[in-house]
Amino acid sequence: MRVGILTSGGDAPGMNACIRAVVRGGLYYGMEIFGIQQGYEGLINGEFVQMSTASVADIIHRGGTILQTARSIAFMEDAGIKKAYEQLQKHKIDALVVIGGDGTLTGAQRLNELTGMRVFGLPGTIDNDLAYTDFTIGFDTSVNTVLSAIGNIRDTSSSHGRTTIIEVMGRQCGDIALHAGLAGGAETIMIPEKSYDLDAIVRKLQAGRERGKRHSIIIKAEGVDISAEDLAKILAERMGGVEVKVVILGYIQRGGSPTARDRILASRTGVRCIELIREGVNNAAVGIKGDTVVDYPLAVALAMEKDSHLEYQRICDILL
Ligand code: F6P
Repeated sequence: MRVGILTSGGDAPGMNACIRAVVRGGLYYGMEIFGIQQGYEGLINGEFVQMSTASVADIIHRGGTILQTARSIAFMEDAGIKKAYEQLQKHKIDALVVIGGDGTLTGAQRLNELTGMRVFGLPGTIDNDLAYTDFTIGFDTSVNTVLSAIGNIRDTSSSHGRTTIIEVMGRQCGDIALHAGLAGGAETIMIPEKSYDLDAIVRKLQAGRERGKRHSIIIKAEGVDISAEDLAKILAERMGGVEVKVVILGYIQRGGSPTARDRILASRTGVRCIELIREGVNNAAVGIKGDTVVDYPLAVALAMEKDSHLEYQRICDILL
């Protein structure tokens, strides 16, 4: 049995731990594992490298991905998918494992649908935007990075009596904002899943000041339809001269050593993926629900709708 593995889309902390789990899990069960460099782009170009136990040594704690990643435009077209399939056939690959987010798993599903190639998706993205799994690999690390930034920014905001807007990543998913904002005790959290009311935000910030609060932290997800700069201008105007600063956290949210939680999630889902391949399953997305590793056919997983933010929002509404 020959298995290919690649990482695609934005990198996420824990991808290396997941590559290690798939490689070592596969070798344990007597499979041959081939790493494919540069995501789907490298697949189309035939960048295959045979993996061994040693090739994944000393990577469990490293951020990024040793296989490199790319956002492939070519793979979005059927012609690109067919080229990729030809490479998989040339290298006699029986099953392909992809680690990535929504776009990566959608590409995997299309490859399976178009060619019949056995394909398996593992959720590697900081965004936590896949509905079929409670958590994606990299999300916990990213939330902890944001949390640490909130702590630092709070110190200086408090010293200067400022309001600070911290913009975090997540595309159209507000989970990084919601989880880090909840854990960090932010005054306001703005996410794309929920419309915002500027008057209510101003009233809340002013009420905090009247209670003697020296600082205010607003966590805004990047997918919210107002820029952090525009928001800062509006708030400064309406709050009568209060200084409003903007911090866009950017790529620091994608790097760093993965948390224990992400390494364990990566290891458990990676091994399960190999077991599904052994069991003869045609295609699957592997994730976690509660503390149970789950799998669904790719099409089923990708059709699910995410609503987990509702519970977190309710808690934030009570506590913030
Ligand atoms: O999907 C991960 C992510 O970091 C998003 O949160 C962000 O919007 C995007 O990737 C940034 O992509 P790029 O690396 O192409 O700038």
